[in-house]
This record gives sequence, C-alpha cells and structure tokens, in this order.
Amino acid sequence: MTERWWHRATVYQIYPKSFMDSNGDGIGDLPGIISKLDYLKELGITAIWLSPVYQSPMDDNGYDISDYEAIAAEFGSMADMEELFSEAKKRSIRIIMDLVVNHTSDEHAWFVTARQQPDSPEHDFYIWANEPNELSSVFGGSAWAYDEQTQAYYLHFFSRKQPDLNWENPVLRQKIYQMMQFWIDKGISGFRMDVIDMIGKVPDQLIGNNGPKLHDYLQEMHQACLTDPDLLTVGETWGANPERAKLYSAPDRKELSMVFQFEHIGLQHETDKDKWHYTKLDVPKLKTVLSRWQTELPVGQGWNSLFWNNHDLPRILSIWGDTGTYREKSAKAFAILLHLMRGTPYIYQGEEIGMTNFPFTTVDQLNDIESLNYLTEARQAGQANDVTLDQIRMIGRDNARTPMQWTAGQQAGFTTGQPWLPINPNHQTINVAQALADKQSIFYTYQQLVRLRLEADWLIYGDYNLLDTPDQVFAYTRQWQSSTYLVVVNLSDQVQHLSLPAGIDELIITNTVLPEDLDQMKLEAWDAFCLKLIS
Ligand code: GLC
Ligand code: CA
Repeated sequence: MTERWWHRATVYQIYPKSFMDSNGDGIGDLPGIISKLDYLKELGITAIWLSPVYQSPMDDNGYDISDYEAIAAEFGSMADMEELFSEAKKRSIRIIMDLVVNHTSDEHAWFVTARQQPDSPEHDFYIWANEPNELSSVFGGSAWAYDEQTQAYYLHFFSRKQPDLNWENPVLRQKIYQMMQFWIDKGISGFRMDVIDMIGKVPDQLIGNNGPKLHDYLQEMHQACLTDPDLLTVGETWGANPERAKLYSAPDRKELSMVFQFEHIGLQHETDKDKWHYTKLDVPKLKTVLSRWQTELPVGQGWNSLFWNNHDLPRILSIWGDTGTYREKSAKAFAILLHLMRGTPYIYQGEEIGMTNFPFTTVDQLNDIESLNYLTEARQAGQANDVTLDQIRMIGRDNARTPMQWTAGQQAGFTTGQPWLPINPNHQTINVAQALADKQSIFYTYQQLVRLRLEADWLIYGDYNLLDTPDQVFAYTRQWQSSTYLVVVNLSDQVQHLSLPAGIDELIITNTVLPEDLDQMKLEAWDAFCLKLIS
C-alpha cells in the first residue's frame, strides 16, 4: 500500500455554527474558528473537516446550499475563508470541506430557474414526477413536494427545501466537478461527501441508496478532479458494509480515500426500529461489528474511518458512557478503544473534553428540523409529547450542536451575545479552560492518541485480533512485525476479572493504574490501557 498522509492523521470535525462566535451575534463563524486554531494545534490534529459554510438559507443548518461558491454571511466572507486556509496552513493543519451534492437548497439559482422555466437546462438538474410514489423523506413524510409553478412534484429525500439533484444529467455532473475544482484550487485538502451513497438513486424503482450508477459517478468524479493523491475524500455511506466499503475505497478503483460506515452507530437503537428507539450498549455486538470492520477491510483493499460522534449523533458519553462519576474515565476508555484500531480517527468538537447531551426540557429549546418534524409526526401518531421529548433528549441532533464549551464563564466563552442554541449548564465543570489546566484531563488522552498515530506504524499496518474475554471487556491485539500491542477496555462500571498469559514490555497509554500481572487482572470500572507485550 502506498502510504498517504491521512493514514496517520486524526481529523477534527468543526460544526461552524457552534464552535466559536467572534462578533457577538450568537452564531459561530470563520474568524471564531481562526481564533481557536492554536487550541487545535495543541490537540495535535492535522486536518479539520468543516461542516458546510456555503451560502444557505439554513433550513438544515447549511446542508441546504444556495451558492456553492459563496460563504454564508453569518459565517463571514470569502476573505475570511482564505484567511482560514492560510492560518491553518501555517500550523500544518489541512482543511477538508463538506460536499453536499445529493441536493441543493430550493433557493439555489438552478432550482429557481428549474421551477420558473420548465424548458430550461436547469429543469433537468432536478427530479420531477407527475404523481408521487411511496418514497419517503429521511426527515419524515413523503419525499415528493408539489410545486405550483411547474405543476409537478419534485423529489426531496431531506427537507422540502432540499430538492434532490439529478445525477443522470451529464451537464449537471460537470458543473459539480468544476465547483469542486474551484475549492481545490483555493487550497483545500479534500471533501467529506454528504450522503454520497444516494447520488445513484433511481426514484422510479424506489432506489435511494446504492443505486446502479453510484460507482460510475464516483469514478467519473475522481477522474475529473480528484486525481491528486494528497486529497482526502471520505464518503458518508450509511448503507456500507465491508464489501461495499472496498468498492468505494480500494485504491485501484480510484473513487474515495475512505468511508464513514454506521454499523456500530446502528447499535444505538433497537434492531428494525427507527433511530428514535434508543437501546443501551450491547458490548458483545459492538465487538462483533467493529472487529468485522477491522478484519474485512485489509490494508491495501480499502480504508475505514473511526468515529463515535458527529453533528448528527448524540454524544457518546450520554448514549453509552457514563456522565456521572466515570465521565472522564469512560470518555478516555472510548477514545483508547477506537483510536488504536485501523482507520482514520475523527474527533467531533467537544468530544475531546467529554461534552455530553443537553438536558432539553421544552420544545422551544430545539432547532433541528429532523427533531421538530419528528415531534409533529409522533404527535399525529398519538404519542405523548413528553415521550417524544425523552427520545429527542437521548438521540436528537441538537445534542451535538449546542455551543462548544470554552470556559466556565458567561455563555461558556462561546459568545458575548445570545447563543443560537442554549449552552449546556454543565459548562461550569466541562470546558476547555479546565481541560487544558488539568494534565489528567480527557484532552491530554486525545492529544497522546493523536501524537501516537503520527508515528506508530503498528497503528496503520498491524493485524487486528479480537481476544476472548468477559462480555463487558473489549480486548484486542495489534500485531506488526515482531511486536504485539494489547488493548484492553472495560466498557462497564463493574469490576471485571481476566487473565492473559503475557508479559508487559512497555506502557503505551492508560486511564488507570496499570495492572502488575496480566494473568490475574482485576479491571475497575471503565479501565482502559494499551501495552506493548514482551515478544
Ligand atoms: C447528512 C448530514 C446531515 C444532513 C443530511 C442532509 O446526513 O450529515 O446533517 O441533514 O445529510 O444533507
Ligand atoms: Ca458570529
């Protein structure tokens, strides 16, 4: 395998609206991000995935783009964006932009023309039908909306304000590749591709994800603008299994660098139910899923990403970890477990200080279109509001989107004004200032993991082996050349006993006091460590 920079990188995801506000309007912005680059440098990350900052009416917080080559006024200007590029570069941090090309905003000039002029080329950039079929929107209800002007229905797999693009149209595809080139020329290092597995949709056949031409389009896109081997491309692919992941990411297929797979995230809700039906951590299932991704995507045949959190997901500590006594310990345990696997790790803003879900109590604290639509839908289906609110408090996307907690002070140091989403009251104890001041904090565990990845070959190349241990203990080895590294994590608050016939050569990382004796190990709640074994 030819090594690429992203094999050793850890990527940090920024949700711009919630990261740092520089001008007191309560909305995070580009100058705010620039002001925190030194903090990110201290964490050690070498790339940022920036959620969308393009011009947008913000129906879905920027995932509804009205101009791909302009910056949303609330986030700043193109000059600010260029300054971000150059300031990041000074610190050896690369910028990965979000590429949202499954749909545009209904306020994009293409859609405006498409509606007004049914004979225009733009009309065919979207998907129209005289009658809706049974396709439904991810955000609830039908995927078809009636347009008075054209007297036809258009497809929208997300909100009504996010009409789906018609990838069958070659002119449209070229326009997208040109737009990608525009950003590459400005110096970005790649793209995170929003719901990219939907671009091959065939609505007539009720096909949304994984349509027949998906990989043809990705290969064409690669040829058009992604041939520079230093570009990182990561596809958001909800339906990926290891076989599909190879189609996307095997280097010789020339499509993407890696995928975000969601099989482990799927374990957060009951099998065969929608995402709102939360279920607690099933460690044996988690071991099965994550281990399959480690073993079925061998080096050279594809590449995976590693993540617990993003802007669509609840905070991992609130879902599967401990937000009380063992908050710090469980946060470090999840970090150690994941970051020592093979793949490119992603840290979502606030994860590195152990941020948690928000204690939402009223509907007016919510902003996310998906949660708000679900409230209406569930009410219509006869579910009591407080039951729905419980579900949203656990799973809703706003949990990841409350402002970054910088200090214990006013508005957590995020803004001098009124924040667009409420600040978590726990910012008094959970904040960056506190984390930086405490050498034992979660932050420094992440810092250590990020640094380790930059230098350790075994993290990239080492073979993975799941060990047979008590249910709640997740233990594996990574074997590289003549060295073996052992990772042991107690994913519970119960004491666990296990025995491994091996000797300790070197401690790599831990959140606990190292056991002296590996064949008589007693693991306390959420203990986690990695050791190099005597060979
Ligand atoms: C992706 C994004 C999500 C967005 C959706 C529609 O899943 O991560 O935030 O709502 O696509 O663009
Ligand atoms: Ca602002």
